[in-house]
Amino acid sequence: MMKLWMAPAGLHIEPARSSDAEDLARLHQQGFYRGWPREEFASFLAEDATPTYIACDAKRRVAGFAMIRIGGDEAELLTIAVDTKWRSKRIGTALLRATFADLMMSPVRRMFLEVDELNAAAVKLYTREGFAQVGTRKGYYPKADGSAATALVMARDLD
Ligand SMILES: CC(C)(COP(=O)(O)OP(=O)(O)OC[C@H]1O[C@@H](n2cnc3c(N)ncnc32)[C@H](O)[C@@H]1OP(=O)(O)O)[C@@H](O)C(=O)NCCC(=O)NCCS
Repeated sequence: MMKLWMAPAGLHIEPARSSDAEDLARLHQQGFYRGWPREEFASFLAEDATPTYIACDAKRRVAGFAMIRIGGDEAELLTIAVDTKWRSKRIGTALLRATFADLMMSPVRRMFLEVDELNAAAVKLYTREGFAQVGTRKGYYPKADGSAATALVMARDLD
């Protein structure tokens, strides 16, 4: 059965395919200081433990994606990024909710993530979607100026 979830602005969410690696690398590069090469995305996409979801239009043009890693009864949000042109339209929200919905059918009961404490849009999104801070990691994110930002560790039960 094809998995499909609705998203705003006429988009929908579906599982990513191996042929999406290029698009994911491009979006990731746009969203983060430290990029991941296409090959790395290709190997994640080939693995069952790292389900990945894309938000796209009917022609499968990708506006955003989310990738999680499953381990036992926990999942980690590895990365989420929305194309700059598509931000603040709740596409990130729809991507997160699609991961929650998909995990309802699995043994996973809790999701974790790490986020730069200065990333206001992401912290707002996660807090709105039920994540709460459970810890911090200092010096976690390398920045262009050589300094490092503190990460918040956030978690949410899936019920
Ligand atoms: C984080 C990200 C995925 C959110 O995607 P999105 O589709 O814009 O998300 P949403 O529209 O569902 O929600 C974003 C919220 O942040 C708000 N927001 C946007 N820019 C903001 C800013 N500079 N400061 C504070 N809030 C901001 C939006 O208004 C929205 O909240 P609201 O709908 O309650 O008003 C996107 O900004 C992105 O790709 N960023 C770069 C990559 C990244 O930082 N990923 C997360 C790393 S852990």
